[in-house]
Amino acid sequence: MNKKIIVAICGASGSIYGIRLLKALLNKPVNIYLIISNAGYKVLEHETGYKGESFSSFLKERGIIFHEKTCLNIYDQDDFFAPPASGSFRHDGMVIAPCSMKTLAAIASGMADNLIHRAADVSLKEKRPLIMLPRETPLGIIHLKNMYMAAKAGATIMPPSPSFYCNPKTISDLVDTVIARVLDHLKIEHDLIREWG
Ligand SMILES: Cc1cc2nc3c(=O)[nH]c(=O)nc-3n(C[C@H](O)[C@H](O)[C@H](O)COP(=O)(O)O)c2cc1C
Repeated sequence: MNKKIIVAICGASGSIYGIRLLKALLNKPVNIYLIISNAGYKVLEHETGYKGESFSSFLKERGIIFHEKTCLNIYDQDDFFAPPASGSFRHDGMVIAPCSMKTLAAIASGMADNLIHRAADVSLKEKRPLIMLPRETPLGIIHLKNMYMAAKAGATIMPPSPSFYCNPKTISDLVDTVIARVLDHLKIEHDLIREWG
């Protein structure tokens, strides 16, 4: 059975993290449930040159290879009828990459105002993996408190802070150091970086 992974892209800087994660997942027999927030689409346009075309076409134009058994389902942020909105939907993990401070705040306070918040809220109550890549700097006390609350509720807080000990040469190498850890936590095999030692 294919793993089922929910991927959310929010309007924080770092859309590249979401795209790199999708690239890694689409190359495998994984069912992906993708939700991009309205702000996420705007930042994608600004940071990646996405121009509002079909998102699958955009990924393919970037040379992303779709495994013959992968399945990409894309949902609107207001679609509360989508599978990720329900606790009866048995998925293997949800990743929010990148995660804005607004979405972090909504999740930390249990305010399920869109499908991303709702799917995260449901993941926490159903004790399914929720990995968040919150992006902001510097972090204020409210951001820190919200991260603490989300972590206490069961989320894995994984700030997208690249590592340098593998001697990255390109931006893509740097991004891979973060996405490799996400895939580790999803228990999905990858060759983005070598295991230390
Ligand atoms: C270019 C750009 C970069 C942004 N970067 C961040 C960021 O790094 N972190 C953040 O929390 N918000 C950032 N924002 C603001 C969010 O987009 C905004 O708070 C939005 O309401 C988030 O909505 P969402 O969580 O539904 O995606 C940025 C906005 C723009 C236009």
